[in-house]
Amino acid sequence: MNHLLVSSLAASLLLSAACQRAPDTAAAAPAAVASPTARAAGAPDLVARGEYLVRTTGCNDCHTAGYAQAQGNIDPAQWLTGSPMGFKGPWGTTYATNLRLRLADMDEAQWLDYSATLRTRPLMPDFALRAMSPDDRRAIYRFIKSLGPGGEPAPAYLPPDRKPPAPYYELVLPAAPIAQR
Ligand code: HEC
Repeated sequence: MNHLLVSSLAASLLLSAACQRAPDTAAAAPAAVASPTARAAGAPDLVARGEYLVRTTGCNDCHTAGYAQAQGNIDPAQWLTGSPMGFKGPWGTTYATNLRLRLADMDEAQWLDYSATLRTRPLMPDFALRAMSPDDRRAIYRFIKSLGPGGEPAPAYLPPDRKPPAPYYELVLPAAPIAQR
């Protein structure tokens, strides 16, 4: 079982490496792993890679309501529409943004600048996004754009002196908390 899992992950990685080397011939191959949404949006190689990255690097865990609880079994039509689950800590309470709305008015060049320099409050792993290659960040952008705008904005950030309504995770941290950014 583990062996199978590793093989199929290795196959996906090889596939995405192949896309990188030969973008002109890649169109036929990734269609096999792209969802109908991704295929419909054109540039299937980049859109499918964006879907793969969003699926595997954890964006949905926070930015899609109920995703982790449903073991990832959520229709892509609902992906990345933000979440009402608060993350409460010394920084206040943050909510994973509705990325479909956030990117609605952003063009690709703006996204590439913005995502390369993004600094947020916790729990967003902004360092991970900044560390991604421009091609991976472009792929994520193309995929999110292929989904189109949808859903409602996530709740607004609350400062530390405000108690959030349920649901929220309360993070009890050691004396030196995650650095405020
Ligand atoms: C552990 C939870 C978590 C994960 C995983 C996560 N995010 Fe976030 N994200 C957040 C939270 C919470 C915020 C809001 C931070 C704030 O209020 O300062 C946020 C904010 C953002 C923002 C800034 C939005 C704005 O309003 O300008 C972007 C862009 C973003 N996330 C993209 C991503 C992408 C892409 C991934 C996957 C690679 C990802 N996030 C993974 C929790 C997460």
